Amino acid sequence: MFDVIVQGATMPDGRVTDIGIKGDRIAAIDRLTGAKAGEVIDAFGDLVSPPFVDPHFHMDATLSYGTPRINASGTLLEGIGLWGELKEIVKVEEMVERGLRYCDWAASMGLLAIRSHVDTCDDRLLGVQAMLELRDKVKGYIDLQLVAFPQDGFYRDPSARENTIRALDMGIDVVGGIPHFERSMGDGTASVHELCQIASERGLMIDLHCDETDDPMSRHVETLAQEVTRLGLQGRAAGSHLTSMHSMDNYYVSKLLPLIAEAELAAIPNPLINITIQGRHDTFPKRRGLTRVKEMQSHGITVGWGQDCVLDPWYPLGTADMLDVAFMGLHVAQMTHPDEMRRCFDMVTTENANILNLEDYGLHVGAQASLVVLDAGNPVEALRLRPDRLCVIAKGKVISRKMRNDATLDLPGRSASVRRRHRLSQD
Ligand code: FE2
Repeated sequence: MFDVIVQGATMPDGRVTDIGIKGDRIAAIDRLTGAKAGEVIDAFGDLVSPPFVDPHFHMDATLSYGTPRINASGTLLEGIGLWGELKEIVKVEEMVERGLRYCDWAASMGLLAIRSHVDTCDDRLLGVQAMLELRDKVKGYIDLQLVAFPQDGFYRDPSARENTIRALDMGIDVVGGIPHFERSMGDGTASVHELCQIASERGLMIDLHCDETDDPMSRHVETLAQEVTRLGLQGRAAGSHLTSMHSMDNYYVSKLLPLIAEAELAAIPNPLINITIQGRHDTFPKRRGLTRVKEMQSHGITVGWGQDCVLDPWYPLGTADMLDVAFMGLHVAQMTHPDEMRRCFDMVTTENANILNLEDYGLHVGAQASLVVLDAGNPVEALRLRPDRLCVIAKGKVISRKMRNDATLDLPGRSASVRRRHRLSQD
C-alpha cells in the first residue's frame, strides 16, 4: 500500500515506469500494476523530473521591483545603490510576505530548493531575521538555504564583517562575500582569505559573488580556488557569476581552469542577469557577459545555472522557472548539441542539487519523494517549451496541480487544436 503512485512516468533517462511513494520517501520505482495507493496520479507518459533547484537567488529583494524607484541605467552599481535605498524603508513582515509569495510561485513551478543570498550589511539584520523566519515557514515544501552576503563589501562596509559573523551565529547556512566590490584588489583578496577561513572553522559551505565584472584582471576566483584547496573545502565551495572569465587572457585561463577543478569549486553563472547587466560599458563588439561554461565542464568542473533575480532592483523580469534560466544559458553559451541541451536540464536539477549538497535528492528508491510532472516528453522538449507543471509533489505531498490546456481554434471552415509538443511516441 502506497500513499501516492505516479503511474506512466517518463523518467529523464527515457525509462517509462511507475513511482510509489510512502510518507516522504520514494518506496518503489517499477511497474506497480494492481498496487494500492491513497492517491494515483496518471502522468500519461509525461516527463517526471526531480524538482528544480536554484543555486543563486536574492529572496530578500524579490518582488520589490519599482520600490522606491526603478533601475534606470540597468547597471549592477545602480542596482546596489537602489537596494540600499530600499533597505532603509523595508520591514521584516513585508520581506517575509514577499518571500512567501515568491515561494508559492516557485513551488507551483516545481522549484523546491533555493539557495538565497541574504544581505548582512544592516546593523539591524532585518533581512536575516526575515529570511530565517521564511526558511522555517516553507520548510515543509521548499529547502531554503541561506548565504550570509555582505552586499556592500565585507571590508568596504564598516560593520559588514561583524554583521556577517552575527548572521552566521543566528543560523545562516553558508558563508558569502563579494571580493570584486571591495575598495581594492588587495582587500578583495584578503576578504577571500578570511571568508574561507570562517567557512573552514565553522564547517560551512562557502559561495562568493566572485568577479561579477567585465574587468579581465578581476581574478579573485584564483585566490578562492587556492584557499579552498589549502583549507580542504573541496566540494563545499562555489563561485557565483565568474563573468570576468569571459574576457580573461586565454593563456591565463589555461592555468586557472585546472586550479578550479582541483579545488572542486563549483561555478554558478546566472545567464538572465549576466547577459543583461554585463557589457553595459561596451560599444561594439559588445561582450555577452557569460563565463566559460562548456570550457569549465570539459575540465570536470560542476557548473549550475542560477536565476539570481526576479522583479528586483537588478532585473525587471523573471518567472521563477528554472527552465527559462536554462533556456537563456543554452543560447548564450551556445549549448545546442542534443547532449549539451540535455546537460542544461541536468544543470537546473541534479547538478544544482550537488552544488547545494542536498541529501536524498533524485528519483531513486529511498530518495525524498519530491518530483514534478511536466507537459513534455523529455528534457530537451521541456527546455524548448518551458511547459506547464502538471503536478508537483514535495516531500511526499501533492502540493500543486494544473490541467493540460491545449489551444482550441475555430478557423474558417474547420476547427483545430494546437499541441505545441512534438513527440515521436505517446501522442
Ligand atoms: Fe547575486
